Amino acid sequence: MNLSSFWERSTPRTVRLEDPKVVAALAELGVQRESHTSLAELTSLGIGGTTDLLRTCRHEAIPDLLRLLDAHGVPHRFLGGGSNLLVRDGELPWVVLQLVSPEPDVVLEGNLAHVDAAADLGRTVTYCAKHDLGGMEGLIGVPGTVGGALRMNAGAYGMQIGAYVREVKLYRVATRKIETLRGHQISFEYRHTSFAPDDMMLAVILELPSKPYKEILQGIRICNEKRRSSQPLGQKSAGCIFKNPPGASAGRMIDELGLKGLRVGDAQVSDRHANFFINTGRASASDMLALIADVRERVTKAFDVVLECEVVVWNG
Ligand code: EPU
Repeated sequence: MNLSSFWERSTPRTVRLEDPKVVAALAELGVQRESHTSLAELTSLGIGGTTDLLRTCRHEAIPDLLRLLDAHGVPHRFLGGGSNLLVRDGELPWVVLQLVSPEPDVVLEGNLAHVDAAADLGRTVTYCAKHDLGGMEGLIGVPGTVGGALRMNAGAYGMQIGAYVREVKLYRVATRKIETLRGHQISFEYRHTSFAPDDMMLAVILELPSKPYKEILQGIRICNEKRRSSQPLGQKSAGCIFKNPPGASAGRMIDELGLKGLRVGDAQVSDRHANFFINTGRASASDMLALIADVRERVTKAFDVVLECEVVVWNG
C-alpha cells in the first residue's frame, strides 16, 4: 500500500483536552497545555495539522501524565525538535507531548556531558567544544534536539552520536517506567537504534574526547562549509527524505534521474540536493507524500532499489 492511499483511508478522530478534571490534573503535574496548536509551526518542514500540545521540563511528571492520558483514552505522540518529521494534515487524532529544556540543559563533569533530551543539538555541540570536548563536529549543522538525534542515531561527515553515548535515561511505554540504559545495552546503527518507537528520550550522558577548542572549531568550520555548499539551508525541509541504501546515495540516484525541481503542489525536490524535499510555500502533507511516492517509484523502476524513508511520518 502506498502512503497516500493509507492517508486517505484512515479517518482521524479529533482529540481535545477539555475535561475540567484532566485540565486540573495537568496543571497539578506542572504540565503546560496549549490548545489547538499547529504542528506546521513546530516542524522544520512547516507541515502538519492541529492538536493540543502538552509541555513540561519535569521528567518525573511523565509517568503520571501518561497514566492520566491513558485513563481518559487520549492517544499521544512524543515530539522532539520536529526537524525530521512529516505530520499529517487537518485535525490530528492524538495530543502531542514535548519536553522543554531546563536551565542549564548541559552539565559537564570531566569528559562527561550530562545533557537533557530537549537541549538543542547545535548549541550542545558548541557548548562542549568551548570546554575542549570534541567528537561531534559533524553534527553542528544538524537541526533538532539531542533526544531526537539520539533516537535516530543522527550522523554526518563520518560520525554518529551513538558512538559517544555512555548512558540514556528514558521513559518506556512498555514498562511505564523511567529507566536508565548503559551504552552497551543500546544498538546504534545507520539512522537506526534499538529504542522502541514509543520510548521517550529524557536525558543522556555523552563521553567525549578531549580536544583543544581551536581544533574543534576548525572541524566545525569545514563541516559547515561542506553543508552550505551541498544542502538547501534556510529552506523548509526535514533534511534527507530517504535513507541511503547500502553502498549507494539516494541523492545521487534521484539527481541522475533528473528529478531536481520536481513538484507536487508546493512540495519540491530541492535544486541543490536531490534527497532534500522542500516546502516552497504552503505544501500539505498529502503533497509531500505524493512527491515521496512518485520519486520512490521512479527510483525503483530505474535502479531496482526501494528507498526507505529517513523522515519520520506521523500519519496514523
Ligand atoms: N549527490 C548528487 N546529487 C545530489 C546530492 C548528492 O550527485 O543532488 C552526490 C554527491 O555529489 C556525493 C554523493 O551524492 O558524491 C553523496 O552526497 P552527500 O555528500 O551530500 O551525502 P548524502 O549521502 O546525500 C549523507 C547524509 C546527510 C549528511 C551527509 C554528510 C543520509 C541519508 N544523508 O548525505 O544527512 O548530512 O551525508 O555527511 O544519510 C540527514 O540525515 O537528514 C542528512 C541530510
